[in-house]
Amino acid sequence: MYNSIITGMGHFVPDNVVTNDDLSKMMDTNDEWIQERTGIKERRWIKEGSGETSATMGAKAARIAIEKAGLTKDDIDFIVFATLSPDMYFPGCGVQIQDMLDMPTIGALDVRNQCSGFVYALSVADQFIKTGMYKNVLVIGSEYHSGGLDKTTRGRGVSVIFGDGAGAAILSRTEDNTKGILSSHLHSEGKHARELTVDGPSIANWVPAILERNDPDDTSYYPYMNGTFVFKHAVVRFSEVIMEGLAKNKLQPTDIDMLIPHQANLRIAQFIQKKFRLEDSQVFNNIMKYGNTTAASVIIALTEAFDKGKIKDGDLVVLAAFGSGFTWGSVIMRW
Ligand code: ACO
Repeated sequence: MYNSIITGMGHFVPDNVVTNDDLSKMMDTNDEWIQERTGIKERRWIKEGSGETSATMGAKAARIAIEKAGLTKDDIDFIVFATLSPDMYFPGCGVQIQDMLDMPTIGALDVRNQCSGFVYALSVADQFIKTGMYKNVLVIGSEYHSGGLDKTTRGRGVSVIFGDGAGAAILSRTEDNTKGILSSHLHSEGKHARELTVDGPSIANWVPAILERNDPDDTSYYPYMNGTFVFKHAVVRFSEVIMEGLAKNKLQPTDIDMLIPHQANLRIAQFIQKKFRLEDSQVFNNIMKYGNTTAASVIIALTEAFDKGKIKDGDLVVLAAFGSGFTWGSVIMRW
């Protein structure tokens, strides 16, 4: 029986820092409101015209991860790419990575699970390793949100939250069953799809239909979020899925060495920390600097926590996410 372990990680964020004060020049908002409600101080937004996209950022993160794993592009057997902001409606970003990194004709799969995207993607990769099919899987989470946000006062409830960035991990085969991914837990509840969504362009709400409506108030192509509703569900589902993972492995919240929650909102992470009575050293947050980078947030945070020396050999690391769909999940691993 094989196990899977992260052997390399990398992340990339655009240089362009957008502070809350910068946002207050675009829309009716202010630093105090944003920090108090979300904990966010600044985020990175791709500079218009720079040519950066979800795929290009993902490729940069992937190159670092492959190098850190001590591998080359030719050692990678499969690509899983999580994003809600793909460069093209189809094909997905995974195939762009295969091309950009000049990889052999390996398989590539895109995961469309928004904020839970990286947790889902890692879990998919884990299954391929555990069945013995692949040795090294490249898992990427990347988002180019800033190109699709309503940056006027009309969109302020959503647009101040999101940032751009990418992270990547190499999940590799190991025969050491004391280390690596112990279990993953995935859930969904589609009846809440419309509480956090971008309605179009989609086949059901395609560009010509949007143009034909010629309605200046049509916001169906911008993200819609019922913030309070999402918040209430997020705190419940985060807690449940962390407990589910711990129980499956006969562990307690006190066994957690590092919790990496999806960086949705600092208030949600703080609620979970308090509920499980975790010390500051047991939870890693970086939403203050990057905002919510959706499918990239967990892997960017995991990479930073590791690079800062906050994760040591043998630590119990818990990843947890909740987002649009609704979908949510956790991954329990021994580092
Ligand atoms: N600046 C200033 N005022 C604002 C802004 C803004 N950016 N956005 C909204 N407001 C105003 C509203 O218009 C409203 O004014 P009104 O009372 O005069 O009507 C007031 O602030 C309160 O608005 P609410 O939407 O009720 O604010 P709330 O306290 O719920 O906070 C927030 C909004 C931060 C989005 C919160 O609901 C939340 O955290 N929800 C969880 C969702 C989440 O974390 N999403 C992250 C992305 S999804 C994910 O990752 C799962």
